[in-house]
Amino acid sequence: MAALAASLGAGLIGRGNLVERLLVALVAGGHVLVEGAPGLAKTRAVKRLASGLEVSFARIQCTPDLMPADLTGTPVWRPDRGVFEFVEGPVFHSLILVDEINRAPPKVQSALLEAMAEGQVTAGGTTYPLPTPFMVVATQNPIEHEGTFPLPEAQLDRFLLHVLVELPGADDERRILDLVEKETAEHAEAPLPRLAASDLAAAREQAMRVHLAPALKDYIVRLVTATREDGIAPEVRKAIEHPVSPRGTIGLALAAKAKAYLAGRDHAVPEDVADLAADALAHRMVLTWRAAAEGETARGLVRRLVDRVRPL
Ligand SMILES: Nc1ncnc2c1ncn2[C@@H]1O[C@H](COP(=O)(O)OP(=O)(O)O)[C@@H](O)[C@H]1O
Ligand SMILES: [Mg+2]
Repeated sequence: MAALAASLGAGLIGRGNLVERLLVALVAGGHVLVEGAPGLAKTRAVKRLASGLEVSFARIQCTPDLMPADLTGTPVWRPDRGVFEFVEGPVFHSLILVDEINRAPPKVQSALLEAMAEGQVTAGGTTYPLPTPFMVVATQNPIEHEGTFPLPEAQLDRFLLHVLVELPGADDERRILDLVEKETAEHAEAPLPRLAASDLAAAREQAMRVHLAPALKDYIVRLVTATREDGIAPEVRKAIEHPVSPRGTIGLALAAKAKAYLAGRDHAVPEDVADLAADALAHRMVLTWRAAAEGETARGLVRRLVDRVRPL
């Protein structure tokens, strides 16, 4: 796991945060939504993750004419045997990159989000289980609005984490240029050591055994309930139309365990929770119309909650 983290990071300049979030989700068994402008190495990050894992990988490039069956698969008539045979679509892989998910039409998005929530696909009345592990990393580009379909807010909480990637600074920009030049000269990216599927399964098991102290569970619950009740930060609560559901509580706890595991600890600490709170919670709440008009963001509100709610 540590070798994978190091080699992923080496090929992704200044993307330590993204790499960590991808690994947190991988170990926690969750899905990730990566948002950022084009050209910020979102696709590259997921392709590198795929080449560092011994699991099957598929990439789905979303377009407005994509159909649900392009993703899930279709029953195909086999005249020699006189039967319909289900031919699995790209969703039947262990790691799936769904590139530019907001360019896919709503029916495709809901087929995908259903698969993510249920771990199965239903076609023609039959249910087919998806493989284990099953991890979706979707990317979306926030600046393109023409011909895009925003993900339904109610379905966003299928993602364990929502990660924002920002433009690099000048130093990183320069290092990116050097790296790409080197790769072009060598006609290849440096190969990654591959983590075996059995090692990944073992890592997941160990991560889930990470200890969450009762006080830490209370801290998570207080952060989440502060989006619903006036108790701790009424001015933040007032800005929220739809608060975070228990899925958010569970997600934040899982992610904190995974982060602690990746840091080599057998117990999570308040900093794990505080660091992940915005990525684990912000996409699960909806602001009031007024708060949004005043320029508040869900992330900003979660950060204020983290400042206000003290760990016990
Ligand atoms: N932080 C980075 N580290 C390494 N390469 C980068 C980085 N940012 C951009 N690049 C380069 O820019 C190109 C665009 O990356 P890509 O993954 O296709 O972007 P996105 O999917 O975000 O649009 C890639 O070829 C990659 O080599
Ligand atoms: Mg891309």
